[in-house]
Amino acid sequence: MKYPMFKVFVRGEDALENIREVFSSGYLNEGLQVGEFQKKLERQLGARNIVMTNSCTSALTIAYKIAGVGPGSDVVSSPMTCVATNTPIVNLGGNIVWADILPNTGCIDPDSIERSITDETRAIAFVNWGGAPANLESINEIGERLHIPTIQDAAHSFGATWGGQPISEYTDFTCLSFQAIKHLSTGDGGALICRDPKDYVLGRKLKWFGYDRDSAKDLKGEWKGQRWDADIGSGDLGYKFNMNNVAASIGLAQIDHIDEILMAHRSNAEIYNRLFASSDQINPLDIPETAVSSYWVYTCVLAGGFQRRDRLLELLNSEGIGAGLVHLPNDLYSAFRKSRKYLPGTREFAASQISIPCGWWLSENDCRHIAERVLTLLKNA
Ligand SMILES: Cc1ncc(COP(=O)(O)O)c(C=O)c1O
Repeated sequence: MKYPMFKVFVRGEDALENIREVFSSGYLNEGLQVGEFQKKLERQLGARNIVMTNSCTSALTIAYKIAGVGPGSDVVSSPMTCVATNTPIVNLGGNIVWADILPNTGCIDPDSIERSITDETRAIAFVNWGGAPANLESINEIGERLHIPTIQDAAHSFGATWGGQPISEYTDFTCLSFQAIKHLSTGDGGALICRDPKDYVLGRKLKWFGYDRDSAKDLKGEWKGQRWDADIGSGDLGYKFNMNNVAASIGLAQIDHIDEILMAHRSNAEIYNRLFASSDQINPLDIPETAVSSYWVYTCVLAGGFQRRDRLLELLNSEGIGAGLVHLPNDLYSAFRKSRKYLPGTREFAASQISIPCGWWLSENDCRHIAERVLTLLKNA
């Protein structure tokens, strides 16, 4: 594809230099580099209590586990997301109750969350579609009023804000992905931001069998080696989900550039916003004024039904423009059959959505070209 949907920002020399250091230290597992990456993330995101993991799926699993998801419990969740938001719920023995999404945002509908709550609801989960925050204020209010933990899948939305605050301020758990095609990548990697420091302490244990690796540091915070002699508490039995130093050293080579990456995504999206504003055939997603999206991709909805949309996709792809659908509605997978219900907003969005590339690798002229091709080809689709 001449204009791919995703591309990894890796400054090869910096990453190699960092990795060389890890190799010469002989310590590949979680150690200094992971700690350094965590500190840089804290500063970058204005967040504390970050558990470093090997993926966002792992971070989500830990969040569900802390929330108490297990056999007999329900989780209200969004069907319009990567399956990674939802597979851990079923793998932990929980039951998904779908909330519908708003077809003009791609994000979960807070009214539908309220209607989906049961006596057994242990968590509310959702994604910030394409990088644009869902209605965080309403979701936070529902969670706090009903005492139900809220879990935000922020895999698309690194650096997004709501009301001028980091998105992690609005939910009990925020899960990040540093997988290969994200704004910030470590190859594979993730993080869990906990609002409550007690959840952070438990999260740190759950990511590494149930031991607290950090208790193996001396008073100056220097790493003192593995910790196998501590007890694993009965509620602490965990996983092997920690990040390693090789992954962290790739992230360290990128995080100093994240502001320029995000700025490029946002300014490319602004170009599309301006060029699509006068079309009655294509509607960019509605993003509340109080939110700042990180525009992982640029999603719009089209008039005319899914056959026209699919035809447009084919035409764009044949011209080297990597347009696509990003995720399919999860409620249609057989694995989630038990949770099926009437979801008109999801059906409408799934049939009309299309995403086009808007990342740092595209120039202003590239975006103008892509927008022009979308508008012209739409006439023939
Ligand atoms: C919304 C969403 N959540 C979770 C994930 C899974 O992330 P990871 O591969 O880091 O587990 C992805 C991956 O693309 C995603 O798009």
